[in-house]
Amino acid sequence: MSDILVFEKAVKIYSAGTPLEVKALSEVSFSLAESSFTYLLGPSGSGKTTILNLAGLLDSASAGRIIISGNDSSVMTEKEKAHLRNSSVGFVFQQPTFLPEFTAEENVMMPSLIAGADKKSVQEKARRFFDTMGLAERAAHYPSQLSGGELQRFAILRALMNNPALLLCDEPTGQLDDGNAALVMEAMKLFLEQSAAAVLFVTHNRDLAAASGRRVLHLRNGVLQNGDGSY
Ligand SMILES: Nc1ncnc2c1ncn2[C@@H]1O[C@H](COP(=O)(O)OP(=O)(O)O)[C@@H](O)[C@H]1O
Ligand SMILES: [Mg+2]
Repeated sequence: MSDILVFEKAVKIYSAGTPLEVKALSEVSFSLAESSFTYLLGPSGSGKTTILNLAGLLDSASAGRIIISGNDSSVMTEKEKAHLRNSSVGFVFQQPTFLPEFTAEENVMMPSLIAGADKKSVQEKARRFFDTMGLAERAAHYPSQLSGGELQRFAILRALMNNPALLLCDEPTGQLDDGNAALVMEAMKLFLEQSAAAVLFVTHNRDLAAASGRRVLHLRNGVLQNGDGSY
């Protein structure tokens, strides 16, 4: 099976060479296969968001390589990276951001429409997603009229609209109560059954990760405790 994401000895140093220098990641190596789900577990400040930002090409490594679907990001231009990010990567953040003056459906459709997709087919796809996730009756509502759990499920659908090869989730259930967190996880499972994506799911919740039976990468002080070792 092919790898969707490969980290090879990725290093991240913020504010390098200044008094504010922070070594956030030390030679982090791991790979994610197609159709895989991996938890990234670590305490606050251990570098989880830094890994997601590098994986999603929102930021560049200070050293090492990050390869997405065979493309080595260290030799790509910003424009090439933006294209790869828009075509291959979906993001779900802890705090979903929606444009308040648009309905949930419009928010979900927007990235695809901006990318130039046909409105009718985008809408059909969005509505199929809403049906699957039990959100059809909420789609015409505005963000201010929706609960945190509903918003997060819409945010997941928005991230999935362009069939990302890589789905990056930064504690999407972190602000939700147990019932809504379970609904969000159920939604993820539904999606995974129909997708070949590699999912990297950040959490600081040991119990959630341990109970899942899925692969867990443990991060501590920027060092991956059980990554793929050295390349
Ligand atoms: N833009 C930044 N500039 C300087 N330091 C940062 C920046 N972003 C994160 N850090 C530092 O890098 C370390 C890892 O942060 P982060 O990846 O956000 O951790 P986590 O997501 O696990 O809480 C922390 O010490 C944090 O303070
Ligand atoms: Mg974080």
